[in-house]
Amino acid sequence: MTRTDPHSYFDDRQPRADRWHLRLLVDFDSRVVGGEATLMFPRPVAGIMDLDSKGLAIHRVWVTVSGVEVPFELGPEEPILGRRLRLTLPEATHGVSIAYETSPEAVGLQWLEPAQTEGRRHPFLFSQCQAIHARTLVPCQDSAVARVSYEAEVVVPEGLTAVMSAGPQGDGPGPFPGSRAFHFRMPQPIPSYLLALAVGELESRELSPRSRVWAEPATIGRAAWEFAGVEEMIVKAEGLFGPYDWERYDLLVLPPSFPYGGMENPRMTFLTPTLLAGDRSLVDVVAHELAHSWTGNLVTNATAEHFWLNEGFTVWAERRILRTLHGEEACAAAWAIGQNALDESMDRFRTHPELTLLRTRLEGVDPDEAFSSIPYEKGARLVAVIEQAVGEAAFLDFLHAYMRRFRFTSITTEQFCAFVEERLPGVLGQVDADRWLHQPGMPANAPVFRSASLDAITALAGAWTAGTRPAQPVMRAWSPSELLVYLQNLPRSMGLEDCAWLDRELDLTARGNYEILVEWLCLAAASGYHPAFGRIAEVLGRVGRMKYLRPLYGALGRHAETRALARATFAQAAAGYHSLSRRVIEGVLAQYPD
Ligand code: BES
Ligand code: ZN
Repeated sequence: MTRTDPHSYFDDRQPRADRWHLRLLVDFDSRVVGGEATLMFPRPVAGIMDLDSKGLAIHRVWVTVSGVEVPFELGPEEPILGRRLRLTLPEATHGVSIAYETSPEAVGLQWLEPAQTEGRRHPFLFSQCQAIHARTLVPCQDSAVARVSYEAEVVVPEGLTAVMSAGPQGDGPGPFPGSRAFHFRMPQPIPSYLLALAVGELESRELSPRSRVWAEPATIGRAAWEFAGVEEMIVKAEGLFGPYDWERYDLLVLPPSFPYGGMENPRMTFLTPTLLAGDRSLVDVVAHELAHSWTGNLVTNATAEHFWLNEGFTVWAERRILRTLHGEEACAAAWAIGQNALDESMDRFRTHPELTLLRTRLEGVDPDEAFSSIPYEKGARLVAVIEQAVGEAAFLDFLHAYMRRFRFTSITTEQFCAFVEERLPGVLGQVDADRWLHQPGMPANAPVFRSASLDAITALAGAWTAGTRPAQPVMRAWSPSELLVYLQNLPRSMGLEDCAWLDRELDLTARGNYEILVEWLCLAAASGYHPAFGRIAEVLGRVGRMKYLRPLYGALGRHAETRALARATFAQAAAGYHSLSRRVIEGVLAQYPD
């Protein structure tokens, strides 16, 4: 028997389900999803089948249609994997059904009180399954190589709307008074981590014939404005990577506790409301999630050890879309901002160099703990260095062949390399891909992305300590990304006078662009600049995006004077954070003495 994924009990010699039928009952009072999952096989099977499960109460297992009981056994709880659910399937089983319930603590779900939503009248529920949390929602072969199509019926309280990573198939009265049933179908085979569900008071606006945005009523107008350009993005992406294969591309703006910037759930990208800057300056996150429709969702990493195949390619793709939309300068700024994130991650992992490889070994390692900018930014730089070696046109041809060859499959780094060797012989050696994939840190041949205006901005920031201050008209001409590059290159803490100058001249504390705002608040926190503390507490009390929480708590925690503020803020805000965010911040604060 072979297990192919260190994070799953999936065994590739056992029967493999290729279709799910889910019936889910969402109960906000008990914070439980009651489920009936039917796993179907392409042909009749028999014997042992191991599933992943975490926190699930398994009530009954039976052969679909015949109703014959299926013996099952739940293994011991493993901290990362959860519990193996071993079924013994009788001869000629076409499908197996499992009645179960989720735990109120399911990591893959966040249940929000009405007060945590924009409208404050209705509760909200959303899922986040990547990398290995689908097993907290559904007993399943929770490995990306075991792809499935699915159908689902979701019963929710009347007045609320359910959306999924699937095509809507209509809704109607639910099985009991006060309930409503929503139907979905995802015909394409997806990895389990792309299963997604959200339930809340939702409205939608059409953005184009194949795209609409969903959000709470209080947010929908701003969301429709911010993302109005999505069709243009899809068209540009299709020009680069080939036809969009998922029919619709809809967006869902979540409440602020959503722990990521975006999640590429197929047909329904999930987004943080912090993207609603009011000036469309943060839509690169949409370009990123859209690009996953090709790199990630069509061609998928086989396991979390090959995560760079998803994210490295997607960051590269996102920047190609950005370049066609907004030009060379905007693209260079994105690479520079990425470089900053990469440097920060390299620094954070200086005692864990093994996590700075692209091809990682994660046996016994929680993928959420291994998460960083390295697969993203180091990965994107490997893609770029290959592109530079063969030329843009030849690389695009290669990419098209790659996607034709591996579409709707989940592959390893080794499969990727074999394909490159086949199509572009010698190039892996030429760019020293082994060094990129299997050695820590950054290789010497890493591409550098520069532009005259970025060089000028970096130089200006570098001259800060010598007393150089940019003139108002210069600063006013900067794009939001350029301003961010400037802030990132300033000293990490400064005098109160200097903070006051920056805040006044650039109106930083009042910014609605969270990238700029949080960069500034980190600087202000590290400098002990009191006028910004109210805003820091407000952001930390509202927003759950880990990308912002980690550096902000870090900046507060590092200095004795602000440490108490960090702890007090966390004590207040923690209950509203996603369990993933909570865990990350506990880790950050644990680094500092009391
Ligand atoms: N797929 C990721 C988010 C993710 C990764 C969730 C791993 C869980 C585990 C998504 O595509 C992503 O990368 N989001 C970024 C967007 C950014 C790189 C533009 C984010 O959330 O910040
Ligand atoms: Zn991504």
